[in-house]
Amino acid sequence: MGSDPRAAARGPLAGPAISRRRFLHGVAGAALLCSLEGPARTVLGRGTSAAFRAQRRKRFAPFESELPIPPVLEPVSTEGGVDRYEITMRPGEQQILEGEPTRILGYEGMFPGPTIKAERDRPVEVVQRNDLGTGEDVVVHLHGGVTEPESDGHPDDVIPPGGEYTYRYANRQRAATLWYHEHGHGYTAKGVYAGRAGMYLVDDPEERALGLPRGEYDVPLVICDRSFDEDNQFLYPSYFPIDGFYGNTILVNGAVIPRMRVERRLYRFRILNASNARTLELVLSHGAQMIQIGADSGGLLPRPVKRRVISLCPAERADVVIDLREFTPGSELVLRNRAGDEATRRVMRFDVVRGGSEEARVPKRLRDPVLWPEVVGERTFTLDFQTSPEPQWQINGKGFDHDRIDAEPRLGTAELWHWVNTGPGLHPMHTHLAHFQVVSVGGRKPGPADRRAMKDTVLVPPNETVTVKVLFAGFPGRYVFHCHALEHGDRDMMGQMRVRP
Ligand code: C2O
Ligand code: CU
Ligand code: CU
Repeated sequence: MGSDPRAAARGPLAGPAISRRRFLHGVAGAALLCSLEGPARTVLGRGTSAAFRAQRRKRFAPFESELPIPPVLEPVSTEGGVDRYEITMRPGEQQILEGEPTRILGYEGMFPGPTIKAERDRPVEVVQRNDLGTGEDVVVHLHGGVTEPESDGHPDDVIPPGGEYTYRYANRQRAATLWYHEHGHGYTAKGVYAGRAGMYLVDDPEERALGLPRGEYDVPLVICDRSFDEDNQFLYPSYFPIDGFYGNTILVNGAVIPRMRVERRLYRFRILNASNARTLELVLSHGAQMIQIGADSGGLLPRPVKRRVISLCPAERADVVIDLREFTPGSELVLRNRAGDEATRRVMRFDVVRGGSEEARVPKRLRDPVLWPEVVGERTFTLDFQTSPEPQWQINGKGFDHDRIDAEPRLGTAELWHWVNTGPGLHPMHTHLAHFQVVSVGGRKPGPADRRAMKDTVLVPPNETVTVKVLFAGFPGRYVFHCHALEHGDRDMMGQMRVRP
């Protein structure tokens, strides 16, 4: 893999594991401080003229670039059994399209940010430094992390320009696919869009013993949509797209509809939908199946589940194994987004090459199911929209207020939460700290994978009610829960709970 010289030219994104020092000396940002809000343009949707379409086809040609793998961050110290990392949020440049590189306001200036690999029960500290040069505050949240309130990235806990903060993650949780991203209130959508999202993978001995694909065969796929202006820069509207932003181009690990050379063996893909608002429905060509082995923050499912379609709302993750042994060298397997339009239907392609002796497997049993305490309470949250005095997304008729607590569950208990969507919007609802199982969607039982997974984000479809059983474990304190359509969360579909000790 990675023999394409253009992949090597991608610089920081090319290597499997590079030290922090190396990528600190990567592309530096000089004139990179201009904001992403260019003049309002009309190219957000599809172009109209044939000339525009032809030009677009060339710039965005699918399957031309090699799938980049975000580098794994090296700790600056492992003293005292704590893995200590340093990340500088700064401007950077990335070669995404032909011609002008794209400016990124990201972790180490890249998109996606570097991957952090953590071990269960081994603490991690991440010093995050705000050198973005935008004059704006930032907040970093570890999505799916069981994190103390001080380190959870509450929107009140900002890192001012030039400042830094040390986030502490205890990793007292099962192996799982988490991610870290911008979390300031009112600017999360813009911050993630500009590049602030990265993977955080927790591993544990139990998972290692299963024989699942590992190392270079365990591949993160950060899928998102973006739009570009004529100068190849990420284009975000100058008005606030309160319904949620939809880009017209799919990126995987920061590359436009890439391809990946794969051997004839099993691969594990940790798929994250890092889009601001777009929900994906992923299918493979040739009717090939994916074996889902994990989801969200709960990590592995009790048993693998074969699926032809995997839907992922924003922030949801699916851990899948794809079996490529049946495919002859030269086969091309396309991963598609069934929910997309002409421009956003193709996601990436797997090009099967020779080689690949199999060492991995997918056991029939993966994990013991979670032991649940008794359900001690029930809460209902209606999700709606108000137009006056200001357009606002609301939970129970209220927008976010950091002085108001909306729920006070007790640590160590479980509750049923009903998300009642009263309108036509799509609301991917997310709880910090607490993980949940989906009990019902629109009165129906969810599919086997969704039903058995421990999740942190679930799509609440238009005019439907979703009931989840939430486990309050970890730490007491104040945490937010919110819609993960980032523009909805920013305008103000967010509540707070105080978990009582
Ligand atoms: Cu991924 Cu509160 O967010
Ligand atoms: Cu979160
Ligand atoms: Cu929403």
